Amino acid sequence: MMTQDEMKKKVAEAALAYVVEGSIIGVGTGSTANMFIDALASMKDKIKGTVASSEVTAERLRSHGITVLELNDALKQVNRLSVYIDGADEFDPQKCLTKGGGGALTREKIVAAASDKFVCIVDSTKQVDYLGAFPLPIEVIPMAETLVMGIAHQLGGKAQVREGFTTDNGNIIVDVTGLKITDAQALENDLNEVPGVVTNGIFAHQRADVILMGTPDGVETL
Ligand code: 5RP
Repeated sequence: MMTQDEMKKKVAEAALAYVVEGSIIGVGTGSTANMFIDALASMKDKIKGTVASSEVTAERLRSHGITVLELNDALKQVNRLSVYIDGADEFDPQKCLTKGGGGALTREKIVAAASDKFVCIVDSTKQVDYLGAFPLPIEVIPMAETLVMGIAHQLGGKAQVREGFTTDNGNIIVDVTGLKITDAQALENDLNEVPGVVTNGIFAHQRADVILMGTPDGVETL
C-alpha cells in the first residue's frame, strides 16, 4: 500500500511532463510542490527560469541551482508563464480548489493568474464533492481582523486567526471552518469584496486546468 507521501512523490514526478522547455514556469508551495521542485532539478538546464509563489519555495529552488525570477521581471521577458504547478488542500469535481494551508495563497493566486495553464498535483485524500471540509484560509490586512471574522460568522463559519503566522506579504491568515461551499465562485467573489481581505483560498477563477491525482494504483489525470 502506497503512503500519502509516496503518492505525492509520484504526482510530483508526473508533473515534469507538463514543464514546457525553454519557458519560465510558476512553482507552488507545500510538501507536494517541494517534491516537484526536487524533481525539477533534473531538468533545470532545459527551462529559462521559475517564478516562486513563496519565499520558502524560492529558497528551495535556489538550493538546487534553479533560476528564480521576480514575477515582474519574468513578465518583461515573456507575456505569460507557460505553466503553474502547485498542490492544493481540496479539489471538487469542477477542479475548483481550496488552497492556503501553507499560507501562500495570495502569491499562489497571482502566479496562477499569470500562467497559461495550472497543473495541480494532489493525492486522492484531497478529493471532495464540495469545498469547505478543509478550513478556508483568508489573507487579511491586520487592521481588518475583527471585521472579517464577523463576516465569516455571518456566513455561518467559525473563524480563527492562525496563531504566530505572518504571510510573505506581512498580513495575517484567518481560517474559516464549517462552510459547505456549494457555489465556490460566488463565495470567492463575496469574500474578496470585503475591505481588508487581500484574497481568499478559493481558487474558482484560477481553478486547475489539469489535476494529477496520486492514488494507491498510480497517477490519474483529471
Ligand atoms: C500552500 C498550499 C498548498 O498547495 C496546500 O497547502 C497543499 O499542501 P501539501 O502539498 O503540503 O499537501 O496551498 O499555501
